[in-house]
Amino acid sequence: MVDRSGTPLVEMRDISISFGGIKAVDHVSVDLFPGEVVGLLGHNGAGKSTLIKCLSGAYRQDSGEIFVNGKKADIQTPRDARTYNIETIYQTLALADNLDAASNLFLGRELTTALGFVDDAAMEAETRRIFKRLNPNFRKFAAPVSSLSGGQRQSVAIARAVYFEAKILVMDEPTAALGPQETQMVAELIQELKKQGLGIFLIDHDVHQVKRLCDRAAVMKNGELVGVVEVDKVSTDDLLGMIIAGKTPEHLAA
Ligand SMILES: Nc1ncnc2c1ncn2[C@@H]1O[C@H](COP(=O)(O)OP(=O)(O)OP(=O)(O)O)[C@@H](O)[C@H]1O
Ligand SMILES: [Mg+2]
Repeated sequence: MVDRSGTPLVEMRDISISFGGIKAVDHVSVDLFPGEVVGLLGHNGAGKSTLIKCLSGAYRQDSGEIFVNGKKADIQTPRDARTYNIETIYQTLALADNLDAASNLFLGRELTTALGFVDDAAMEAETRRIFKRLNPNFRKFAAPVSSLSGGQRQSVAIARAVYFEAKILVMDEPTAALGPQETQMVAELIQELKKQGLGIFLIDHDVHQVKRLCDRAAVMKNGELVGVVEVDKVSTDDLLGMIIAGKTPEHLAA
């Protein structure tokens, strides 16, 4: 059970953002606690990605506020988000295909020797150390990431977030392009991160996966928040009902 009695890791309050008259996100409030996975569900275009892009600094909300650990956060750019230990793994993974796992893990934040040279040996050693914990079966340390499977690529992105001490992880459909085995691997990674106390926003279209991996689910429709429920207290049909009808049954509101 996630302890929700303390201060939330993230509180998004009354967030709105429009694009040329279309309200992509309309007065949405959600929060996230340490060790919690909150799933974001909703039809295509519901506003899920737009909402979390306000947290990751890709977009700036028109109105509303974000609090991190109870303090108001000013997030204007992805760099700002990182200063709040927020890391994002996008729908389309941004990895440098021709570089190996270690180079990708440290991309833009390379380790250097005392003399200021890029320290490849140290980066590979750190990469092996972190994979030992996250994905012990990973072997392709020297290969360009273009030769990795979708799941292995996801694990490189997740390792990068973990190495840089993300406390808040935003995952936008991390398993959308993966087969069942790889999806399972990412699911295990998410559970491991949760155990380590990270808070995770997980956008996913699969209600079964949300029920399995998440503590709560927030459902959006046409930019609005339909409701937030504890997944233990709902069936997948309840979740589908919320997505389609856009209404939370009274007894389910959490
Ligand atoms: N940069 C943008 N410019 C204009 N409109 C945008 C932009 N980004 C999002 N939108 C619009 O905002 C709405 C919400 O889009 P968003 O990408 O957040 O949906 P989503 O819930 O993530 O959908 P999906 O499940 O398809 O990824 C849509 O109507 C979309 O067309
Ligand atoms: Mg999206």
